[in-house]
Amino acid sequence: MRLNHCFNYHDFRELARRRLPAPIFNYIDGAADDETTYRRNTAAFEECDLVPNVLSGVEHVDLSVVVMGQKLEVPFYCSPTALQRLFHHQGERAVAQAVQKFGTMFGVSSLGTVSLEEISSSFSFPQVYQFYFHKDRGLNKAMLERAQAAGVQIMMLTVDSITGGNRERDLRTGFSIPFRLTLEGMIQFAFKPKWAIDYFTHEKFRLPQLEQHVVMSGGATSIGDYFTNMLDPSMNWQDVAEMVKHWQGKFCLKGIMSAEDARRAVDIGCAGIVVSNHGGRQLDGSRGSFDQLAEIVDAVGDKIDVLLDGGVHRGTHVLKALSLGAKAVGLGRFYLFPLAAAGRPGVERALGLMRTEIERDMRLMGCGSIARLSRANLRFRNSSH
Ligand code: LAC
Repeated sequence: MRLNHCFNYHDFRELARRRLPAPIFNYIDGAADDETTYRRNTAAFEECDLVPNVLSGVEHVDLSVVVMGQKLEVPFYCSPTALQRLFHHQGERAVAQAVQKFGTMFGVSSLGTVSLEEISSSFSFPQVYQFYFHKDRGLNKAMLERAQAAGVQIMMLTVDSITGGNRERDLRTGFSIPFRLTLEGMIQFAFKPKWAIDYFTHEKFRLPQLEQHVVMSGGATSIGDYFTNMLDPSMNWQDVAEMVKHWQGKFCLKGIMSAEDARRAVDIGCAGIVVSNHGGRQLDGSRGSFDQLAEIVDAVGDKIDVLLDGGVHRGTHVLKALSLGAKAVGLGRFYLFPLAAAGRPGVERALGLMRTEIERDMRLMGCGSIARLSRANLRFRNSSH
């Protein structure tokens, strides 16, 4: 299977599965407990049908949107995610090049593998910084100030990860950072020699956002342990309100699932929220993010920008979220599998397919611009919406 035979999420996932050592593939692909929320995220889109209007004269399609003051050429963005150079040796650099080409937004994660400064100084797209709130308040302050100095436009605090999700695939494979050379790991390398050669012949794996503050040489740690040991479970609305004040620029909470929390986000001065359950990787049994979108848009959609992520595989999924009132949609595994499969050309192909799908679907829906999408274009099979 080759890159030019990849036409959708499933194809990229399969190509990534063939290229990656199994523990790494399962880290990306896996979720918490029984992975019900992970599956529900995508299934939720299938319970909502699009209702097109025809003969609307859709010659030109404008896909641009404005999100927290930033103009994006397309209504989707690449969510900052962890450990990307483990998936492909170019990691965030490859993703950033593709993002620049498509005119959308992206940025590094606290657990990113390329420095915040490198990405923000090399690329002109709106910079998002994914922030984890650590127990060490001094570290939080230093990270915030560093992001300010680097010119980050959107501070995105993840609020659903104060303790590690129960990711049983990772427990089974022993997935950890740095990638551990156990006997099992060695065998995995032997099965995937191309990945292993790429990994070991390029710049050493690093976590540049954290390495000055966190000693990583104390041995391998799992992502679950990192969340549980390093992140602060006592984080509350007061802490975040102070952070918003200190930040001064656009502040966004990622991982909001209730209308009540969305209202609180408005009260503390956030510019946006991401309706998200962390790709089903934290609280299994949590509702699908698309299932919660309408309620949250109704509560705060006229006050702050509501974004959504989770389970988005198709242009029609993006259209459904936008029709319900989301301002843009975040992609995670959707670009990570292509990254693992083929680096920058892989991400470019995936984003290109997504843009083409949305453009085609907009024409078929009879909508020439994103602003013309509305709930009149949707019907839910279950009438509770
Ligand atoms: C994860 C974190 C690191 O879901 O975002 O693995």
